[in-house]
Amino acid sequence: MNTASVADTLRIGALVLGPTVARGVLARRPRVVRLAEAADADRRAGRLLQRMRAKYGPGPLMLRFPVRRLALVLSSDDVGRVLAGSPEPFALASLEKRKALGRFQPHGVLISTGADRAERRAFNEAVLDTAQPVHRYGETICVKVREEAELLREQIGRTGELDWDRFRVAWWRVIRRVVLGDAARDDHEISDLLTTLRMNANWSYARPPRRRVRRRFAERLRHYLEEAEPGSLAELVARTPRSDRTEPADQVPQWLFAFEPAGMAAYRALALLATHPEQARRAREEVDGRDLERPQELPFLRACVQESVRLWPTTMAVLRDTTTETVWDGTRMPAGTGLLIHTPFLQRDEETLPYADTFAPWIWLDGTAQESWSDIPFSGGPGECPGRNLVLLTTSCFLAMLIQRHDFRLVSGQPLTYARPLPRTLEPFGLRLRARPRAAS
Ligand code: HEM
Repeated sequence: MNTASVADTLRIGALVLGPTVARGVLARRPRVVRLAEAADADRRAGRLLQRMRAKYGPGPLMLRFPVRRLALVLSSDDVGRVLAGSPEPFALASLEKRKALGRFQPHGVLISTGADRAERRAFNEAVLDTAQPVHRYGETICVKVREEAELLREQIGRTGELDWDRFRVAWWRVIRRVVLGDAARDDHEISDLLTTLRMNANWSYARPPRRRVRRRFAERLRHYLEEAEPGSLAELVARTPRSDRTEPADQVPQWLFAFEPAGMAAYRALALLATHPEQARRAREEVDGRDLERPQELPFLRACVQESVRLWPTTMAVLRDTTTETVWDGTRMPAGTGLLIHTPFLQRDEETLPYADTFAPWIWLDGTAQESWSDIPFSGGPGECPGRNLVLLTTSCFLAMLIQRHDFRLVSGQPLTYARPLPRTLEPFGLRLRARPRAAS
């Protein structure tokens, strides 16, 4: 394993790590994201990392910062080694995640280790039905998704337009109803409290924790978990066996906040469909004439959402820490060394992926994405996102509802066409779509 020179370490810090952290690891800061988009920050970072790979070789590149040793993973084979080797010897509970998430979900699975982690992971998988393409509450979940999408469709029908603010409000209602129950539909406060906690956690060491906000959030969450409304994940939390290690209430905040980027992914997918006529036609073929009253797999729309998260990953840094001294290609990494997988680089690496900068939903349908460790928007291996199928069920159903009734056209001007490489950074906040009603299907 090579070690980067001081000058290269500083360059990587300034062009790769700095912009990633500045955008907000747990909650995006819209103004910084806009700046990153304007500066084409992820393309610059990608170019630098390609140069580093050419200079130092494809193996992980050690960066020695005064406070932290970080090995930057630069090839898909090494991504596979790291993800398949989680949680031992490569722990998901990295220093940065523990500092940030420890502020409001100290017993969350993502920052747990050993027997605690095993127990909490099993609990998450049991509630989220990780292995099932359609969650056992699929029917109820789809009713909630449909009702909110219908209301959004009415608004679109009145104004002929869709923007992120409207989409976001509808999506958060879906999140609260699915996770906490219908009684939480209009509880914007619980979402706002969680956003405040995530924004605060973005600062990791630099700002004191918001203890009052955390208490208030925990009280409201406890209320919904005690009510355990039938048909919600809160009900499954109450019904799923637990031990004294499980800490169920500390698992739920992650479900709530991880659902928000799922909305961003769905909205970007809609923008892609609005600018790619051939893919839009396939999506319409998938939903036309379908009875969306029933929960079902919609493979093409699922592929579009996965593609949207590949192109614009919502988890930009997948981090691991070595749990013991580990020797990698002859280099000794002491316990506690960080490993960093920068997904905007690996998932858009045009030196290795022919489809890097294009909208290519087919890679999720023909096995291409599964064959390599480059496309990991939901991570992979034993630490893969246990909510993946639930996300794909809810987002594909939501999108199906929208495209069944309207054709969309992007009117905010972002260059999302086949003619040019897709932008590496795309904030959802500024995407505006015009909608034209379709003949009833
Ligand atoms: C677009 C939406 C989502 C994306 C792209 C996504 C992606 C990811 C990724 C990349 C990880 C691994 C993080 C790491 O290794 O540091 C992860 C972990 C996790 N995700 Fe998701 N996620 C999404 C939504 C959700 C939802 C909606 C839920 C729950 C309802 C969820 C539950 C979890 C949990 C519990 C973990 C921790 C897993 C563990 O520690 O073993 N995610 N997710």
